[in-house]
Amino acid sequence: MSTPVIVRTVEALRAHTRAWRAAGESIGVVPTMGALHDGHLSLARAARRDCARVITTIFVNPMQFNNPEDLLKYPHSEEADAALLATVPVDLIFAPAREEVYPDGFKTVVTVGGVSEPLEGRMRPGHFDGVATVVTKLFGMTMADRGYFGQKDWQQLQVVQRLVRDLNIPVQIIGCETIREADGLAMSSRNLRLTEAGRAKAGVLYAAITAAAEDIRAGQSDRMAIREAAEAIRAAGFERVEYIELRDAATLMPSDDPASPRRMLAAAWLDGVRLIDNIPV
Ligand code: PAF
Repeated sequence: MSTPVIVRTVEALRAHTRAWRAAGESIGVVPTMGALHDGHLSLARAARRDCARVITTIFVNPMQFNNPEDLLKYPHSEEADAALLATVPVDLIFAPAREEVYPDGFKTVVTVGGVSEPLEGRMRPGHFDGVATVVTKLFGMTMADRGYFGQKDWQQLQVVQRLVRDLNIPVQIIGCETIREADGLAMSSRNLRLTEAGRAKAGVLYAAITAAAEDIRAGQSDRMAIREAAEAIRAAGFERVEYIELRDAATLMPSDDPASPRRMLAAAWLDGVRLIDNIPV
C-alpha cells in the first residue's frame, strides 16, 4: 500500500503527468465524484493493471446536476476515499476546487448529440452536457491515454465513447463491468441514501430486469416482459418506475432487432432515491 499524492491545481497535476509522459509511462484516469465504493475501486484496479500511472479524479461536478437538491445531498468523503485508493494503489488523486475547473468567465459547453438525448438525457436535461464538458476537461488536464468508466452508467459510457470519437480526443475508453451487492443491486453512492427497509427491497430492480431479459430471450414479447418487470418493481414497494426500455446498445435508439446487441435500461424511485441499472439482452 502506498499513499497517493493529492493535487488540487492543473499546474501541479501537469508537473506529474509531463514527467510521466517524458519517461514514456502510460497514464490511466478514473474520473469520479468521490464517495467511493467497490465499483470505483474496480475501475482503479483495471487502470492499475493496464497503465504505468493511475490518476483518480474526485470532483463533484455542479454542471451535471440538473437537480440542485441532489448536488447539495451529494456525499463528500475525501479522507476515506484517499484511504481506499491507497489500497489499489493509485499514484495520484486530482481533487480540484470548483474554481479550478470552472474559473470566472468559463463559457464552453460540450454537447454530444444523439446518444445523449433519450432516457437519462430526457429525464435530466443538461446532465450529459455537464458530463461531456467535465470529462473533456479532465482528459485535457490529465493528458491520460486511457479513461475508465463503469457500465453501470451505460448511457454515460456511450456518450463518452461518442465524444472521444467525434472530437478526436486521443483517450481509449474502457467500459468496466458493473459491480453488484450480493442481492444484485448495482453499487452506487446513492445507495447510501436508502433506508434499511428500502435497501432490503432495492435488489428487485436488477432481479426484475434480469427476469425480463431472460423471458425475451426465451421468446416472450419485449412489451409484455417489460410490463411484468415494471409490475414486479412496483409490487416490491418502489414509488415509481420512470422507464424500462430495450435499446440498441450503442445508439440508445429503440430497437426490436434481437440480432443486434441490445441493452435493457431502467430507472426507478425507491425511498425518494433514483436508482438506475442496465443489462445486456
Ligand atoms: O460517473 C460519474 O461519477 C461522473 O458522471 C463523472 C464521469 C465522474 C463526471 O463527473
